Amino acid sequence: MTAVGDISGTTTDRRAVISLLRRLRSPEGQSNPWPVWEQMRSLGDVLPAPWGGYLVTGYDACDQVLRGRNWLVPDLAWQARQPPSERWQAPAAQAMSRTLFRLNAPDHTCQRRGLGNLFDRNTLASLAPRVAVHARRIVDELADRIRDDGEADFVTVVGDQLPVLATGEWLDIPARHHAHMLDFTHRQVHSQELLPTKTELAVSAQATEEMRVFFTGLIRERREAPGDDPISHWIRYWDEQFPGDPAAADQTVFDLVMFIAVASLETSATLMTNAVWLLTRDGGAAWNWLREHPEHVEDAVEETLRYDPPVHVNSRIAAADTVLAGTPIAKDQMVHVMYGAAAHDPRRHEDPYRFDILRDSSHMAFGGGIHYCLGAGLARLEGRSLLTALLNRFQTLRPVSVPTYAPRMVFRRVTSLKVTTDDDPAAPRAPRPLAEDPAGPPAGGCPVHRTQRP
Ligand code: HEM
Repeated sequence: MTAVGDISGTTTDRRAVISLLRRLRSPEGQSNPWPVWEQMRSLGDVLPAPWGGYLVTGYDACDQVLRGRNWLVPDLAWQARQPPSERWQAPAAQAMSRTLFRLNAPDHTCQRRGLGNLFDRNTLASLAPRVAVHARRIVDELADRIRDDGEADFVTVVGDQLPVLATGEWLDIPARHHAHMLDFTHRQVHSQELLPTKTELAVSAQATEEMRVFFTGLIRERREAPGDDPISHWIRYWDEQFPGDPAAADQTVFDLVMFIAVASLETSATLMTNAVWLLTRDGGAAWNWLREHPEHVEDAVEETLRYDPPVHVNSRIAAADTVLAGTPIAKDQMVHVMYGAAAHDPRRHEDPYRFDILRDSSHMAFGGGIHYCLGAGLARLEGRSLLTALLNRFQTLRPVSVPTYAPRMVFRRVTSLKVTTDDDPAAPRAPRPLAEDPAGPPAGGCPVHRTQRP
C-alpha cells in the first residue's frame, strides 16, 4: 500500500473487495452498510473494482474526483471505446446516457446554461407554501392510519409521496399521474446499478419505454397548450436552439424530464425516510432533541444527507493518465465514488457513526463540481417541510420495526418503515406549533393553531 499525505493507496485484495460488494448489494448489507464501508476504507482510499476500474472510498480522494478537471463522466463516446457490453448497450442505459448527468463539455455546459438555476430564491419561495401544504396533508394521513391501524408504513404514506407531490407541483403534473411516475422511476433505476442483471435491465427497459410514452405525451400537450411551467419554458428555449427542428427540441426536453424524474423522486424519498429513521431510532433521543430545538430542522436534514446519502455510488472516468491517492490510473479507466464510505471517513468527520445534528456535516450527497445536483434546493425544501410538519403533528413518533431496503448499490431505497405514536389519539396534534410552517396555519384547522397564530 502506498501513501500520499494522509490519503492512502490501493489494495490488491480483489477477493476481499468482491465479498464486500456482495454484502453491500444484499438487503442485509443495505440495512447495515456501515461495517462494509468501514472495511472498504480500511483496504485503502482507492481499491481495484473486480470488474475493472477502481472504487474510491476516502473523503478527500472522492472530493478530488468529483471536483477535478481531469475526470469526466462516462458518456456515449467513452462507451463506444469500450468492448461491447450488455451493461452499456441496454436500451435503458442508452436512454440515460443521453441525459445531463452523462454529458461532458461542451454538451453539458450548453444544457446547464439552458437550465440556469432551477431552484433560485423566487422559485423556492413560491413552491415552499405549496410543498408545506402537501407535507401537512400526508402527515395528517399518516396520523389517521396510525389511529385506525395502530401503525403505518412511513414510506408509502409519506416518504415516497412528498417528492412526487413537490416535483409534480413544480412541473405542473396532475396528481392522477403520480402513482405511475413513482412506479416507473422505481423500476428505471436498475439500469444505473453497477452490475445490473439481465432481468433488471429488462425491467428497466420496460420502465424506460413507459417513461418515453408518458413524457413525450406530456411534452406534446405542453406544445399544444404552453403554460408558465418549466417544461413549457424548456420547449421554448430548445426550439430557439434548434430552429426549425422541433423533434430535436422535444428529444432534449424528454431526456431532461426523464432524468429529472429519476433523479428527484428516488433520491428525495430516501432522504425523507432516512431522516425519520435516524431521528426516531434508539429510543428517539434525536427526535426529542429536535422537538426542543426546531430551529435545527435544516441541520437535521444535512446530517441525514451526510450520514446516509441516498445515492451510494457515482462514476467518473480519467480524462488522461493520472494518479489518485498514490494509485496510477490510466486514461479512460473508470472510478466509482463511494459516497457512503466517504461520508464516514474519520479523517473528515470525527466519530462519524454518531448522528449529530449540530456537527459540521459537510457532505457530498449532492455530488460536486460541474455536475453538482441541480435539485438540491428542492430536496432541502422537502426535507425541511416534512420535518416541520411531523414535529408539529406528533409529540412522539417511533419505529415499530427496522426499515427494509431494496438490494441495490447505487440508488439506495427504503422499501418500508413501520411507525407508530404514543400520542393520545384524542389530542392528536402537538400542543403548540414547534417549528415555523411555511404554509401558515391549517385551513379552517386546529383551534390550537388558530389561537396561537392570530
Ligand atoms: C435528496 C435528494 C437528492 C440527492 C441525494 C441527489 C443527488 C444527486 C447526485 C449525487 C448527483 C450527481 C452529481 C455529480 O455527478 O457530481 C445529482 C445530479 C443531479 N440531480 Fe440530484 N439529488 C437529489 C434530488 C434532486 C432533485 C429533487 C432534482 C430535480 C428536481 C435533482 C436533479 C438533478 C440533476 C438535474 C442532476 C444532474 C446535474 C448534472 O449532471 O449536471 N436532484 N443529484
